[in-house]
Amino acid sequence: MAQALANGHISGDGPFTKKCHELLTSIHKCAATLLTTSCTHALEMSALLLDIKPGDEVILPSFTFVSTANAFVLRGARPIFADIRPDTLNLDETRLETLITSRTRVIVPVHYAGVGCEMDAICAIAANHGIAVVEDNAHGLFGRYRGRLLGTFGALSTLSFHETKNFSCGEGGALIINDPTLVERAEIIREKGTNRSRFFRGQVDKYTWVDIGSSYLPSDLLAAYLLAQLESREHVLAARRRVYEYYLEHLAEWAAANGVRLPLIPDSCESSYHMFYMLLPSLAHRTTLITHLREHGIMSVFHYLPLHLSPVGRSFGYKEGDCPVTEDVSDRLLRLPFYNDLTIDELCRIVAAIQTVMWE
Ligand SMILES: Cc1ncc(COP(=O)(O)O)c(C=O)c1O
Repeated sequence: MAQALANGHISGDGPFTKKCHELLTSIHKCAATLLTTSCTHALEMSALLLDIKPGDEVILPSFTFVSTANAFVLRGARPIFADIRPDTLNLDETRLETLITSRTRVIVPVHYAGVGCEMDAICAIAANHGIAVVEDNAHGLFGRYRGRLLGTFGALSTLSFHETKNFSCGEGGALIINDPTLVERAEIIREKGTNRSRFFRGQVDKYTWVDIGSSYLPSDLLAAYLLAQLESREHVLAARRRVYEYYLEHLAEWAAANGVRLPLIPDSCESSYHMFYMLLPSLAHRTTLITHLREHGIMSVFHYLPLHLSPVGRSFGYKEGDCPVTEDVSDRLLRLPFYNDLTIDELCRIVAAIQTVMWE
């Protein structure tokens, strides 16, 4: 960051942004990468790039963050909520065919917790119907499905570098562009609808307004902060894997005895180890455990409230029972503290506290 300041270039698309672009593009072997101000903005760019219009339909899981839906709803699209698989909590690909209509334009799989969706099936269904795939890969940077990096399956994929993610610059994201035909327009949309990127490359004499767009560039200071972490990706992934495996190993016996399900990673997937969750037997069990851990000074959290039952989801006509797995999981899921430098002592204390919970 000091170097970015010394460079005298702290606005967007400076030398550190370029280095992040090069690194992420070479890792993904994609057509281009564009850093953005958030994953939300990368999703909004995807909706603009795919020309999503009022009346179009977008299929996505109800069990996700609001931005997965909102980015498309902003363009006038109707969200079509799919339920999730009970094992990985990812979009249930077996339900996709029943949700497709002549208005379906996009499928947005979310690689929940960094474990890949069934991309072979999802991509085959999308290709059969001529529907685009945009991977919401906010959780899954460096995770893999059948040996292939998450984020490389869809025409586009989006990353989050929010503070809560494995790699962070406070607020930030990226658009991974796998379809080369979308690169030039993506640059324009990200640069306020101008061809400024072409101007900087000397491809045009002046830059001007050529399309709709907005300002989606993060400061080069943030890119510098991010680059250091991306360069240390092996270290970051190993640290997160250590936390995940500690929980898995030390909670296995307690979980089996208490009817608690721990997360699973199918053989087809390599996880990015974004989080560690547990599925408690009931909402009452979860409330008891959260209170118990709080009394031990340990914060545990849950998410997501089903999008189909939110006020906006209901305004699209959704109701209880429409996504039963999502509704059930949303009541019972609990996330344990998870960050790179959690020490063994701290992990040991968290596990010990969990094991002393008394159900009411
Ligand atoms: C699945 C998913 N998509 C998108 C986002 C939005 O990311 P950002 O905060 O970078 O906009 C999040 C944030 O938590 C998320 O979990």
